[in-house]
Amino acid sequence: MTKKDHVKIFDTTLRDGEQCPGATMTLPEKLRVAKQLERLNVDIIEAGFPIASKEDFESVKAIAGVITEDVEVAGLARCLTKDIDAAYKAVKDARKPRIHVFLATSDIHLKYKLKITKAQALKQVKEMVAYAYSLCKNIEFSAEDASRSDKAFLAEVVEMAIQQGATTINIPDTVGYSTPEEFAAYFQYLQKHVPSFKKACFSTHCHDDLGLATANSFAGVRNGARQVECAVNGLGERAGNCSLEEIVMAIKTHSAAFNIDTRINTKEIMPASRLVSKITSFPVAPNKAIVGYNAFRHEAGIHQHGLLANKATYEIMSAEDIGLQSDDLESGLVLGKHSGRHAFSFRLKQLGFNLSDDEITKCMERFKDVADKKKHVYDEDLIAIVKTAADLDAQPMYKMEYFSVTSGDRQIATATIKVKRGKKSVLKSAIGNGPVAAIFSAIEAATRFKFQLKDYTIRSCSVGREAMGEVMVQIEQDGKSAVGIGASTDILEASALALLNAINRLVINKAAKRLKAQG
Ligand code: KIV
Ligand code: ZN
Repeated sequence: MTKKDHVKIFDTTLRDGEQCPGATMTLPEKLRVAKQLERLNVDIIEAGFPIASKEDFESVKAIAGVITEDVEVAGLARCLTKDIDAAYKAVKDARKPRIHVFLATSDIHLKYKLKITKAQALKQVKEMVAYAYSLCKNIEFSAEDASRSDKAFLAEVVEMAIQQGATTINIPDTVGYSTPEEFAAYFQYLQKHVPSFKKACFSTHCHDDLGLATANSFAGVRNGARQVECAVNGLGERAGNCSLEEIVMAIKTHSAAFNIDTRINTKEIMPASRLVSKITSFPVAPNKAIVGYNAFRHEAGIHQHGLLANKATYEIMSAEDIGLQSDDLESGLVLGKHSGRHAFSFRLKQLGFNLSDDEITKCMERFKDVADKKKHVYDEDLIAIVKTAADLDAQPMYKMEYFSVTSGDRQIATATIKVKRGKKSVLKSAIGNGPVAAIFSAIEAATRFKFQLKDYTIRSCSVGREAMGEVMVQIEQDGKSAVGIGASTDILEASALALLNAINRLVINKAAKRLKAQG
């Protein structure tokens, strides 16, 4: 058997993923994600865009300092010396630093965004790739909007970048416009028309505007790409990037047929998905491929019958491959108020959460509260507890100490809430046209944080009348939005917790933006 070709996985959750509105992460959160990416065994972590702000620079530098294994750490830079200097400074202490420079090559970007000619663009690539190479021997060049670029010009730019020292050439479908056939044609063209094609590792970077990011990335791999840029849960600009879990499992499932493989430890996929969802508060759709709640659940009798006869009838991969235990899927009764820390932490581990002792302690407190009110604590309840147990890393600005609501069809709903900020507690009451509206007004008064409510959804985490409710709230202030979640056996409490979570996130994001502006 011939050795399989290695397809490198370049994760951009912390750069392109973090660029997506509402997904801003704090430094401790980024470090947590980076360590999980290391456990996943990705080949390259794109840690950020160092020139963007002082804060971005510091987080790339901090990530470069903690990644101890055999993982490259990349920093993004435009084709400008100041960007390249910042990227190099931020990644240079990584075990394996990489500078990732980019310049757009499509006519539309050259004419309207960069306002330069093709000749000027070629010169800029020549000079800036050479400059980056003088600092670091591991250089990636990306031709932004490659999939809408004139193929002959793209080939010329790519050849120039390789001549100047680029070791990786990335072909992005920046606006998610391409189709698998069209994208494949770009790779076929480049294979023929770039004389130094074999001297570099070619890469895909596909956005999901048409839902084709994974299919396009796979088409790139089938046509010579040996690096895929992707993000956990498909996070990224607009509709997101190619999702890491999808491309990795697509390659694994078709590994023998196409003689390709990644080195990803797929058992860490579910923990990574849950961590990123928790940190960003971006829920994963139940029908999301690979990591959605229903991805391995079979409802129809005919499917269940087939599965019992032979798993291969309806399953192309196993739940265990991505880090789930098969009994996770049975949604059975797991824990109750007599369950101890050992059983609790064991079950969390089985569910894919890698938590520290301190974090387990925080979650355990919440679990005890819930188990006091609810006889049966199901896996879905546990997931909600971990997702919402006081932000594990960040110190929330506002914490709820107490709330009460009165409501009915013959009275005006009234809420009272006590919120703690630092050492100070503020008690406020407000009325509303329903209990949730009253709570939200009371929170607005207590925090003095004015916001517009953009979305409010509620769902039951598990089964039965005593099921926990999970509330998701999206708020906006001055064009910036944040999502918060809260879970409780009491949906009014869950609503209050979700709103405070969203406010805390918006406050943290705004503080980060202020720092950026000052930087
Ligand atoms: O989408 C894109 O083109 C990018 C580049 C910077 C690689 O994110
Ligand atoms: Zn992108």
